[in-house]
Amino acid sequence: MSIKDRTALGLIQAAFKSGKLKPGGTVIESTSGNLGKSLAMLGAAMDFNVIIVVDPKVSTTSLNLYKAYGAQVDMVTTPDKHGGYQKTRICRVKELLKLHAGAYWPNQYDNPDNPTFHQNYTALEISHFDFDLLVGAVSTGGHLSGIARWIKANRPTTQVLASDVEGSAIFGTPLKPYLMNGVGLGWRADNTDFSVFDHHCQISDQEAISLCHLIARERGILMGGSGGIVVCAALIYLLATNVKSALALIPDTGVNYLDQIYDEDWLSSKEIELLTVPALLNRIRIRAAKI
Ligand SMILES: Cc1ncc(COP(=O)(O)O)c(C=O)c1O
Repeated sequence: MSIKDRTALGLIQAAFKSGKLKPGGTVIESTSGNLGKSLAMLGAAMDFNVIIVVDPKVSTTSLNLYKAYGAQVDMVTTPDKHGGYQKTRICRVKELLKLHAGAYWPNQYDNPDNPTFHQNYTALEISHFDFDLLVGAVSTGGHLSGIARWIKANRPTTQVLASDVEGSAIFGTPLKPYLMNGVGLGWRADNTDFSVFDHHCQISDQEAISLCHLIARERGILMGGSGGIVVCAALIYLLATNVKSALALIPDTGVNYLDQIYDEDWLSSKEIELLTVPALLNRIRIRAAKI
């Protein structure tokens, strides 16, 4: 179950409860891949239609899953001036909402139902673990902000590290194209609550992908690319600070990216050369020394 399955459930349950969505109704949402899969699945199970607005970065696996669940797909193809598609996708959602009267837009970026679900439910899934540092990835910021709110309310000495991909603008750096799917954003969404983050850090595509390959081969854990970001950030802060244990929230499985970050042809088409283990560890040590 991916982190976005939880987000989707929270958004849809709240929409049904408030009456914004009715059985047989239509949900329209912009997604980089994962939330769309979750909404498509819930649409089939909970009786609502789903229109998913995606862009060319979406994996073939995700597209096939949408179809398998009977969801409708709308693909934008024009990047914005920074080479990203998130703004274009949201404009398309707004157009579609005009064409489908009464349709519901969960708006995962700004809808407080997103962090609230994670604060009330996802946080409880990790509440029995002992750790000094919570590390998560951000895009809408919904899951990490929600869990971090619970942490700050219940374990105020535990620190929170928000990690993101290099090139994303969430932490105020200029927006540049990046490969990672799911993380990053061209702006800061309302659901990203800086007040509950103690630290933040950015990891490059190359570092995250190299770490995903390392963990798959050495530990038998196949993470999605954002998991590589989270684990890389956790290692840097474990080395750099007096934190003794970290809990890393891995958003999804690498099975979703077998045709992307785990595919040799895809890597060479994107000019990504995997870092050797010593080179990656050295990179992590250098990053830690700068903190
Ligand atoms: C794979 C993956 N990682 C991380 C995130 C970031 O989660 P959030 O939007 O809750 O910040 C997402 C969100 O789409 C995702 O799909």
